[in-house]
Amino acid sequence: MSTQKSIKLSDYVEYPFLIPSIYLDFDIGTDYVVVQSSMIIKPKKKESSKLVLKGNQIKLLSISINGKELKLPEYSISDKGLIIHSPPGSEFELKIRSLIDPFRNTSLEGLYLSSGMLTTQCEAEGFRRICFHPDRPDVLSRYTVRIEADRTLYPILLSNGNEKYSGNLNSNNLRHEFIWEDPFPKPCYLFALVAGKLNSVSDTYITNTGRLIDIRIYVEKGDEKYTKHAVNSLIKAMKWDEENYGLEYDLDEYKIVAVRHFNMGAMENKGLNIFNSKLVLADSKTATDDELERIESVIAHEYFHNWTGNRITCRDWFQLSLKEGLTVFRDQSFTSDLHSKGLKRIEDVSFLRNFQFAEDKGPTSHAVKPKEYVAIDNFYTTTIYEKGAELIRMLELLLGKEKFFRGINLYIRTFDGSAATTEDFINSLIKGAYLEEKNCPFDLDKFLNWYYKSGTPKVYINQSWDSKNSILNVSFEQKIDSEKTSENTEMVIPILYSCYSREKGASPIAEDNLFILDKNKKNLKIHTLPGEKEAPVLSLFRRFSSPVVWESDLLIDDYLFLFLNDNDYFSRWDSGQYLMREILKTRLCNKANYSLEDRFINAIKQTIKSLEINDPFFLATLIAIPGFAELESLFTKVDPIRIYRESIDFQVLIGNEILQELRIISKNLLVNIDHQWPMGRGERKLLGTIWFYLSLAGDIDVQKNCVESISHSSMTISRAALGALKPLDNTLTEEASNLFYNLWKENPVVLDSWFAYEASRPHKRGINVIEKLLSHPKFDWKAPNAIRAVLGGFSKNIDLFHSLDGQGYLFMADKLIEVDKINPITASRMVKVFSKWKTYINKNKEGMYESLLKLNKANISSNTREVVELILN
Ligand code: ARG
Ligand code: ZN
Repeated sequence: MSTQKSIKLSDYVEYPFLIPSIYLDFDIGTDYVVVQSSMIIKPKKKESSKLVLKGNQIKLLSISINGKELKLPEYSISDKGLIIHSPPGSEFELKIRSLIDPFRNTSLEGLYLSSGMLTTQCEAEGFRRICFHPDRPDVLSRYTVRIEADRTLYPILLSNGNEKYSGNLNSNNLRHEFIWEDPFPKPCYLFALVAGKLNSVSDTYITNTGRLIDIRIYVEKGDEKYTKHAVNSLIKAMKWDEENYGLEYDLDEYKIVAVRHFNMGAMENKGLNIFNSKLVLADSKTATDDELERIESVIAHEYFHNWTGNRITCRDWFQLSLKEGLTVFRDQSFTSDLHSKGLKRIEDVSFLRNFQFAEDKGPTSHAVKPKEYVAIDNFYTTTIYEKGAELIRMLELLLGKEKFFRGINLYIRTFDGSAATTEDFINSLIKGAYLEEKNCPFDLDKFLNWYYKSGTPKVYINQSWDSKNSILNVSFEQKIDSEKTSENTEMVIPILYSCYSREKGASPIAEDNLFILDKNKKNLKIHTLPGEKEAPVLSLFRRFSSPVVWESDLLIDDYLFLFLNDNDYFSRWDSGQYLMREILKTRLCNKANYSLEDRFINAIKQTIKSLEINDPFFLATLIAIPGFAELESLFTKVDPIRIYRESIDFQVLIGNEILQELRIISKNLLVNIDHQWPMGRGERKLLGTIWFYLSLAGDIDVQKNCVESISHSSMTISRAALGALKPLDNTLTEEASNLFYNLWKENPVVLDSWFAYEASRPHKRGINVIEKLLSHPKFDWKAPNAIRAVLGGFSKNIDLFHSLDGQGYLFMADKLIEVDKINPITASRMVKVFSKWKTYINKNKEGMYESLLKLNKANISSNTREVVELILN
């Protein structure tokens, strides 16, 4: 474990005081900001206890209780905060005047400057950089906020809730003030303040009870034209939550601010969401279809937090998945309702396998509900978010939709206005669904293991066919696949299955059935149609019914059958993925299985014939190879350079073999590609996939066409063209990249995608390419998006990053040490590029190890140190 002090779940104690209301006053100057807080504080118990307030980089000016100034040693102060040794035994008012410097705050936590405007990020523990406060999510208060500032520098002054007052401060009109009031008690991590020169675009929404909500999106001047998509997405989310969860928005105003310098995606501050500008500013000219869908889902995600996160919040940060897992589940359901359930499921599973499974296999693996942490910022992970969402999805499946929603309702009614735990959630859900826990049809304690255990469970499946009685006997066995646990843990694993008669083909023998694997070993008997001669083909984990990996005795023939016939989107896609993984595995073990490759290519041809352009998105998805991280996970000794080359070779083969088929359909696609998103997205996706394969197969006409398409009015088409040219080692790629740069050099959001492209292009040789990008005049060291574009792109530049002399790794380590100095949150997230070092072949392993040692010896933040130590151990 870590050499640093960790916080433990088992140490939780209630805060001994209530703080029902807080009045915050911000006086924004040119060099610093004076913050004055007045808190009404009530001791919970008669016995006195000291009052501990957190504070980080705040200069204390004065402190008083009920109007009487406190003097040392009545209080003590350190770099962690402030302690008042014997506060009054009954309700009192604590006033603190202090000073903060947002202008030199590069961490993007607390109050900081971004492109001339002041903005905040308080989750998880940024509020302690603004004022002295307990800064824990179980202390809920009503906030009133007054902000005053120079009128011309900061014409817009925003905080949470509804506007109470605004006016000029002195006769010469230089300064002005705003007062904001948020009637809903909230934890301080949901506090937000924005001050600056911003333009806004507004719209309205009428709720199902007829209340008028004022919607406003704030952006930098000139960006107003890119806000329509965000507004539309928000309105769709508001409606969806009313229709599906019966949840209505509660304030009169809903504001979203776009910020260029932001550590993560977005933040659900009550009534004043703050967004990374790349997740707000978009239209079909500047963003790809995938990005438009992602923006729609993140806008919805932050909106859904208003109930799952804000009205009901987390007792402590160990409960993070209570709000994040549930809210991701809600945003996934939203997208899937709006677009395609089957395709959305594939997208989510692919993400989970490439990122969450990889995390769970490595040194930073942790439970959805961890027991301890050093820096909470390091726990905003795909395990907390996406695996957390999978757990809710399993509950929905186990309970059935109707009962599930009864449970959710009870949870919301019971905990509205308070701070809850994941156990509170599960208990309410079961109680709401079944009235009594004993009626629950599965073992709740075993289900809870999903929250407490890290690692991806593995299921082994074996079949035997009883031809006499036409029964397929299937045995299941579960094991938890984690380096950290050797114990024998039983989980509740819901398995949706169906099967197909080989003779009759295409339609399944039975609809989806649910089998609950809740023991280490359990058997299932499937009765097929009487007289069935051959064993049916089993289709398992339909819709990816639980987040596990599995190994079965299905034959290659079975997978080929399912790849052509399965009527479950996920299962059909997964059969193809299995076959491609097998092909790549055998190729990488130097025993390429040509007959398998032939049969698979034929299956692809058949698929193209049957699906053609009727379901272009699905077709494109079916013929795309598994993600790189997923391929890496197939090996115990990973050779990244070889995996990359072999996967390119395999795609060259596919391209060559299906040239004719692809050329024919690509012509038929063109009629629909100019439709506005979401229309035409399938056609654009398939066209991009076809371009990729044809260009890789050396089709010069396609390559030239790609260069011409860089200036296409759809960003999806333009980026698809870039993508198709990317693996090539020729001048067209350079030409296309320059064209793209010249078109977009004044748009920082779009330009980030160019930075990522340049950094990840395989034929850009030498580390100085990356160095050049980092010193490019358009590169902004303070913008995490830009850092992630270049350094993240570089980590995907397989030859360069993984070069056997270790220079790529050392370069990355040096840059991360620099990033860490200005922004620990971004550095500690990026340092995970070294997570898998132990799984690599020796050369890469040694190189990565050396770089990790270098990081470990450097003077790095405790956030980054926690991750480096976990990785090294
Ligand atoms: N609650 C935000 C969301 O998921 C994430 C913010 C996390 N930020 C951080 N610095 N840890 O929507
Ligand atoms: Zn969230």
